[in-house]
Amino acid sequence: MAGKNGYAFAAWTDFIQESQIRALLKYKVKYYFAGGMPGIVPTDVFAQILAGLSERYKQDPKLALEDLNYGPTGGKSWFLKTLAERMRRVRNIPLDKEEGWKSMSITNGSQQALYALLDTMIDPGDVIITPSPAYLGFLVPAVKLDARLITVPTDLHGVIPENVEDAIQVSKAQFGRTPDILYLVPDSDNPKGTTLPQKRRQQLFDICENHDVLLVEDSAYAEIQFKPNPKPIKSLDKENTRVAYLGTTSKEAAVLRVGYSVLPDKVREQVLKDKGYLDLCTSTLVQRILDEYYRNYIDEAMRRGVPLYRLRYEAMAKAIDESFPAGTRTDPTGGFFIWWQSEKPFDSSRFMEEVAIPNDLLYVPGGPFYPMRGYSLSDDGKTLVRSKPERNTMRLGFSYVEPRLITEGITKLGRLLTEELG
Ligand SMILES: Cc1ncc(COP(=O)(O)O)c(C=O)c1O
Repeated sequence: MAGKNGYAFAAWTDFIQESQIRALLKYKVKYYFAGGMPGIVPTDVFAQILAGLSERYKQDPKLALEDLNYGPTGGKSWFLKTLAERMRRVRNIPLDKEEGWKSMSITNGSQQALYALLDTMIDPGDVIITPSPAYLGFLVPAVKLDARLITVPTDLHGVIPENVEDAIQVSKAQFGRTPDILYLVPDSDNPKGTTLPQKRRQQLFDICENHDVLLVEDSAYAEIQFKPNPKPIKSLDKENTRVAYLGTTSKEAAVLRVGYSVLPDKVREQVLKDKGYLDLCTSTLVQRILDEYYRNYIDEAMRRGVPLYRLRYEAMAKAIDESFPAGTRTDPTGGFFIWWQSEKPFDSSRFMEEVAIPNDLLYVPGGPFYPMRGYSLSDDGKTLVRSKPERNTMRLGFSYVEPRLITEGITKLGRLLTEELG
């Protein structure tokens, strides 16, 4: 908006703050339980890939020139074919063996896919349904675009389908609109770490089919699983018309800023139009590195890495159970996070600043995982009330530090919380 006296910022800059997770990156602490940083990355494998590529480029300058250049907005066909093969083989995504790769595209992290999806679907006042709590990297851009967010309650198995049905009915009655999007992280979600059982997946898919809602399935943690997992909701979408399926190389490979997605054709077209203006394309060199990794190394790396994440989870769960004051925690079967809620009221954000950080500890307070503007379903499911953060919660990430430090740090946090809460 133009100011009277020179330049002025757009209106959103007044009410949107820096991501609370990003803001925490500035703290260097011994016991880091904050952002979802992978702590188990096969750096030896990446070193080998880079050395191999360096030789290839010396031998083949034409290939080097191609890889050091612009490429198609949605990704290079050779990389999309590699990803499509993995989606079919490991994830049960019903992609045609020959042509399926054409439904895939890549983005600069799955964060960009989330943003571009919102950007292409949402006009001010459009309705989105999310779990409560939900990944703040989805919530905040939705608020920025002036969506009406309706959050629905979750239990230890994620969202409850009946509540989603209620939320759609309330949206129609109160706003005269069908929601555009239902956002879900079905496998070991962020922030609670819960997993949707098969029955709920089917029910949620059916609800979206019945009401013509786009189901966004964010599968960021789908391959970091300690037990066999139900199939993705996308596996039910045989015609590729209902589910926008998002994956990321960040958690299962390395943070090279590549997300991949299988989107319904007409959604994909618009999202790529948007991406074309956001970044033109994703780095071709990075696609080459990841192509090598996904073709030759990932299976073995997951076999080695996932059990190590499990040890970290076990160390954290045990230390919470032994040292925390009265409260409840989730019991994830994969992913990076445990969610803890104290029985007594307290402000986990204030506690972090005043007590945890001075004691070399960092976690993410639960507040930012509730939208700062939005609605929640009332207890009877018939009306909406203003969404309110539950401040006595915290997200504890077990992915980054080793089990010994987890035990030490969580035990210390438990002692400090007990002093605070009695
Ligand atoms: C649920 C979820 N979705 C998306 C992302 C974004 O990941 P990236 O942009 O690294 O692919 C994250 C990162 O923490 C996440 O937890």
